Amino acid sequence: MKKDFSSLLVTTDVTVKDVLAALDKNGKGVVFLVDHDQIMRGLLTDSDMRRALLKGASISDPAELYMNRDFVSGTLPKDKPENITLLNEKICSLPILNPSGRVVDLLRLTDLWRLPVMEPVLKGREMEYVLDCLNTNWISSQGKYVEQFEEKFRTYISTDHALSVSNGTVALHLAMAALGIGRGDEVIIPDLTFIAPASMTVLCGAKPVFVDVDRSTWTIDPENIEVHITPRTKAIIVVHLYGHPCEMDPIMEIARRHGLYVIEDCAEALGAEYKGRKVGAIGDVGTFSFFANKVITTGEGGMLTTSNPELYNTLRLLRDHGMSREKRYWHLVAGFNYRLTNLQAAIGLAQLERIDDFLRYRGEVVSRYSAQLKDVEGIVLPPQKEWAKNIYWLYSILVDKEATGIDRDTLMGHLSVHGIDTRPLFYPLHKQPPFPDEADNSFPNADWLSSCGLSLPTSNNIKLEDVDKVCAVICSATKNKSLFRKYEFGKDS
Ligand SMILES: Cc1ncc(COP(=O)(O)O)c(C=O)c1O
Repeated sequence: MKKDFSSLLVTTDVTVKDVLAALDKNGKGVVFLVDHDQIMRGLLTDSDMRRALLKGASISDPAELYMNRDFVSGTLPKDKPENITLLNEKICSLPILNPSGRVVDLLRLTDLWRLPVMEPVLKGREMEYVLDCLNTNWISSQGKYVEQFEEKFRTYISTDHALSVSNGTVALHLAMAALGIGRGDEVIIPDLTFIAPASMTVLCGAKPVFVDVDRSTWTIDPENIEVHITPRTKAIIVVHLYGHPCEMDPIMEIARRHGLYVIEDCAEALGAEYKGRKVGAIGDVGTFSFFANKVITTGEGGMLTTSNPELYNTLRLLRDHGMSREKRYWHLVAGFNYRLTNLQAAIGLAQLERIDDFLRYRGEVVSRYSAQLKDVEGIVLPPQKEWAKNIYWLYSILVDKEATGIDRDTLMGHLSVHGIDTRPLFYPLHKQPPFPDEADNSFPNADWLSSCGLSLPTSNNIKLEDVDKVCAVICSATKNKSLFRKYEFGKDS
């Protein structure tokens, strides 16, 4: 069917008022001005009109007075790479002209296919279990799915206990509260991580003490921990960052020698293993997140794992208002309500039923990325120690500006214009406003990783062809044009 662009076109002899009316009607934020042979002569955007009116333009003025004559246009076919790369934050709508200069199509940034960094896959029994909750009225934090989810999780991680909570942040808060961490205590935390371990430490009244990360694992550097231990140190929170486990043996050895607790923040690493043991089963307590961008999701949600029965009882007591399990409404301590609902647990159970499939497929995705990016000069692949099973929560790379000829942020912009969402690595904690005491300390590895790292799309269902597109755009944006594998933009399989 022939496309109708009439609402986008006005003739060059119209007034400002006519252009405003056309903009109002087409809602696309732009009109193209054509002569009587339908040849495009210029364009006007919403912003152009706003600026003109502010400068004193009258609505009866000829629109031609304000028209952009120096406009950017594309050629057919609309979706070819050259056209797509012309789009950016300023040029959001590109007129596509035929050889005579007539408008034959329109390419808009918002119309482009987009590949998210991470999206949930809810194609198992989620709906069935949630409907069961709705049909039976078990929608709050009691019900069979909470128990089943916890039991399946406990078995999966190989710990004696698993306790579900409302998210990964409160899991950390609960862990610290149950371990008695509070005012006057210090907690060792990697400088490169999502903020939750540090902010929960602060909210417990304790002081976070940052330790630089290891360049080869991106996680806390065990060799750097001991110099930060003081008589006030109570715990080490290790973060298995981006799915790669921390080097646990030396960390556990240091912790035991100094009488410190180890909290494993496994929010990004469900299924990851250190020397064959699942993360979350190695320290005193493990914490997990089921936010929608995690390997499995419950929307919002979290879990704690431990094999210490006393700790489990305290965690459970504090999670449930500090209420006695024998005597209802009798509160042994002041506690929280950090429970997960049966509805969320229903989703979690269905997700956990698919974890092996998710991780198997992620392995294929990772191989596909690595095979294509390993020879791109200046691109450093994600860490993979011989003792580690990395689950690559987000496949993240480092960009060496000198070797690639492009800096990380420009590469992200380039990928974005091609419809590919990415994320920079976390900002080092010592640079962030809540931690002024750490601002002058030196964390060269965290600084370096944060300055040049980015995460690429890694959903559980990302198509391998889409991985190829991401790699092709990276190759074409760097000095490695020869590695650019041809594919057709816009043809989403
Ligand atoms: C390392 C780490 N810890 C904790 C959290 C907090 O989890 P939630 O978002 O479920 O509160 C996250 C979330 O992304 C995380 O990445």
